[in-house]
Amino acid sequence: MKLSDVEFRAMNTWWRRWGQKNFELPLFQRIGMDIKGKDVLEIGCGSGFGGFLLNQLQPRSYVGLDAMEEQIEIAHRTYPQFQFMVQDATDLSQFPAASKDVIVIFGVLHHIPEWRKVIDEIARVLKPNGSLFLEEPRGVDIRLFDFFFRWGHPDSDFGLKRMETHLKSRGFQFDKRWTPLLTMYHIKGAF
Ligand SMILES: C[S@@+](CC[C@H](N)C(=O)[O-])C[C@H]1O[C@@H](n2cnc3c(N)ncnc32)[C@H](O)[C@@H]1O
Repeated sequence: MKLSDVEFRAMNTWWRRWGQKNFELPLFQRIGMDIKGKDVLEIGCGSGFGGFLLNQLQPRSYVGLDAMEEQIEIAHRTYPQFQFMVQDATDLSQFPAASKDVIVIFGVLHHIPEWRKVIDEIARVLKPNGSLFLEEPRGVDIRLFDFFFRWGHPDSDFGLKRMETHLKSRGFQFDKRWTPLLTMYHIKGAF
């Protein structure tokens, strides 16, 4: 789903990029992110800054996708050297089964009412020994942001506990780190 104007502006600020570079990516690395020589897919890549950071870690290939044309337009303009595409994450049919070593999500599932479909697609596209690195806020924090800052998240039953239950039902196991704003997961297939 498209971001509200206020969240779109917030996602394209220096402080968003600062947090992703100095806080979120290092936390992913602390829980096992190592993408050197790997085939990487980023879901909900937004302005492409996550793709810029991930490409510095020397993956074999990188594709970033996002449902919002405006975000992909910024990503293409800012980082023409990397591959970005407009694509809804509930349909990853253009990626063959077991084709990606690593899938990365910086705070996206809580924007997708059909977030379970995205997890199901990830279970198909990830290689058997692959890793999903995912960060999401708690449901209560999403509601607080909407109350105080009018970010206008979509109506959804998304929540970390429900997400964990769905991940387990698809054969995933995970390690997680709680932080005040986001919970960081390293998720691996057990299939
Ligand atoms: C909170 S923003 C995060 C953007 C970026 N990952 C970041 O950390 O700055 C959520 C992103 O998910 C994208 N998005 C929302 N629904 C989507 C969907 N169904 N498929 C793919 N991307 C989607 C939005 O366009 C937006 O760029």
